[in-house]
Amino acid sequence: MKIKKKIALWLLCCCAFGQTAAQDREDISLNDKQSFISHLLEQMTLDEKIGQLHQCSGRGNFTGPDTLHLPLEEYVRQGKVGTMLNIIGIKEIRKYQSLALQSRLHIPLIFGLDIIHGYRTGFPIPLAEAASFDLAMMEEAARCNALEGAADGQNWTFAPMVDISWDARWGRVMEGAGEDPYLGSKVAEARVKGLQGEQLGDTCSMMACVKHFAGYGAPMSGKDYNSVDMSMGQFANFYMPPYQAAVEAGAATVMSAFNDFQSIPCTSNRFLLTELLRERWGFKGIVVSDYNSVEELINHRVAENRKDAAAQAFQAGLDIEMVSQCYLRHLKELVQEGKVKEEVIDQAVGRILEKKYELGLFHDPYRFCNEARSNRTINSSRIRNSSLRMAERSVVLLKNERQTLPFSDMIRTVALIGSLGKSQFDMAGAWAGSVDRSKIVTLYDALIQRGIKVIYQEGYDIRSGKISSLNASLQAAQQADAVIVCLGERAEQSGESKSKANLNLPEGQQLLVEELAKTGKPIVSLLMCGRPLIFNEVRRHSPAILCTWWLGSEAGNAICNVLWGKYNPSGKLPMTFPANMGQVPIFYQYKSTGRPTRPHVHYCTSYIDSSTEPAYPFGFGLSFTSFRYGKPEIIPSDHPDHAHAFLRINISNTGSRDGEEVVQLYVQDKVARITRPVKELKGFQKVFLKAGESKTVTFPITDETLGYYDNDMHFTVEKGEFIFMTGGSSHDTQEVTYFHPFSKI
Ligand code: BGC
Repeated sequence: MKIKKKIALWLLCCCAFGQTAAQDREDISLNDKQSFISHLLEQMTLDEKIGQLHQCSGRGNFTGPDTLHLPLEEYVRQGKVGTMLNIIGIKEIRKYQSLALQSRLHIPLIFGLDIIHGYRTGFPIPLAEAASFDLAMMEEAARCNALEGAADGQNWTFAPMVDISWDARWGRVMEGAGEDPYLGSKVAEARVKGLQGEQLGDTCSMMACVKHFAGYGAPMSGKDYNSVDMSMGQFANFYMPPYQAAVEAGAATVMSAFNDFQSIPCTSNRFLLTELLRERWGFKGIVVSDYNSVEELINHRVAENRKDAAAQAFQAGLDIEMVSQCYLRHLKELVQEGKVKEEVIDQAVGRILEKKYELGLFHDPYRFCNEARSNRTINSSRIRNSSLRMAERSVVLLKNERQTLPFSDMIRTVALIGSLGKSQFDMAGAWAGSVDRSKIVTLYDALIQRGIKVIYQEGYDIRSGKISSLNASLQAAQQADAVIVCLGERAEQSGESKSKANLNLPEGQQLLVEELAKTGKPIVSLLMCGRPLIFNEVRRHSPAILCTWWLGSEAGNAICNVLWGKYNPSGKLPMTFPANMGQVPIFYQYKSTGRPTRPHVHYCTSYIDSSTEPAYPFGFGLSFTSFRYGKPEIIPSDHPDHAHAFLRINISNTGSRDGEEVVQLYVQDKVARITRPVKELKGFQKVFLKAGESKTVTFPITDETLGYYDNDMHFTVEKGEFIFMTGGSSHDTQEVTYFHPFSKI
């Protein structure tokens, strides 16, 4: 049967049998994708095509200006909407899908949602997960997020956020993988694979959306949405790699960023959206704007009005406009005036139809809406268990003096101080929109469930940060075998639009720890936060400190498992923790300067009123056991096509407990044509070692390990000496020199 006829039959089936025509449509949709799409495009009016480029938000869960005033149902029925966000639950999704099927061509909708760290089951915030350096586990976590979301009707998540950031003032650091481009790239890849699974058509996979393209993590002064200004070399070497890695991992969609890049807003930045993304990287998927950002081109003062905004964004290569309506209202006019070519609209619409086809929505628009699957999947034991394992691996042990941790089984009564330990809302974390908070296990719950006697005190007021119950807290401490103090931020203090000018933990929280320490009881301070904070008094007075971030549904269980040594902490910091505000932004891979930092030396890169040393460096994290690193050695390669050489290092567990260590590999290009960082992470492996066991870890040395982008974005590998550093943190390494015999430009 000719394709045109089949399309006609498909349309007929949609009209005649409404939602039950899957069988007939299958016959058609299983045919050649490209012919199906081009014939469908032929039947579409210009208005219908423009409708596909418009994305509407449901009523509620806004992440920007609301849409309460819009006649959403009418829009959908008239084919003025191609994709929707913030429609939650099978019932609602069915409702809007059935309206879309009433439109003239019955083109189904795609439903998208920000599933950032869990759909119904909460997972650790992405920054916490990155601290695990456990790529397989992060892939599994993303898989679980997709499993739950897809089982409940969602097709698309606006994740992963892969923006690198050196600035903890920026509240969205909680949503990324931290400061390092290498770690960020590996995490981006793992998350895309986890979300998208084997292929898009699976009912347990979702489309990933790499965001925010590009440079969103570098706003000036750490203020969200602020301007970004950086050189091309800086962008290419430090900010670009995770976006590229995610695209190469097959991400179906990319979201443009709110900020400007080289003085052009990303929403209308042709260099980013077309030249780099499509022409250089070969990206074939959909580019969506951020919330309302096309209209915001007017605020950027690069567009005179909505029509101008539509023209600029579309011409730059932006396919879908999220929420604002510049395309819907003005693209037609722009085509009629010859300012936008209809064939370019066809290409953008074609990309959207292609994803609908790949998701199987033409075959069955309701295939993601299966209540039985949803009930089976959501909160299932696999997902809860993965959330627990992910949470345990995300915890970072920052200090452990006098063997305060792990607690022995003799610790049966604890004083639990601080309301964060009892708050389901906060333990869920900053972007837990659809997470079922009633199923979050808090630390308080977990302690009780384990039969521990808990003497709870609020200790300090979470809003003002002031001490609220000093005497009662001290009394609780006196009566307990150990004290657990929950410090940090409320979940709503990090995330989008939550930039801070002050990262210091409130004085009251710190003073409280100082007072509690005077009781002489074993004290453990838990930092529950979405970003690096400054807590020097806690560092001074608390013998043990764990950074537990916000860990999601199994937070309490994971923390208890760490406290009592059932899980030996293995997390490493994915961001540098500053010692004071003046050091921010702070990161480990600063560049070599003409006057390098040297302690007590004048006229060098430093401060007169502060050390340049962070409180905790990137890659730092302790264990309940100890590891000894052997001397790294360079081994020649028998297969130069695969690797120029190998670096080999021996590592031993010298303590009395089994444990995991993240073996890190850093490199310094000793002399280069452009200024290069003092060190850059170029490899890591997480190894499990039984007590007393030793293993050899090998890293390949490849072009990727040695090279960099020059200011014209050409990838270059230079001949000469490279210093390789290996160890358990960016500040604790051993060196070996490698000589690279040839250049490659
Ligand atoms: C955020 C995006 C998010 C979008 C939709 C925006 O405010 O920047 O990350 O995906 O809203 O919720």
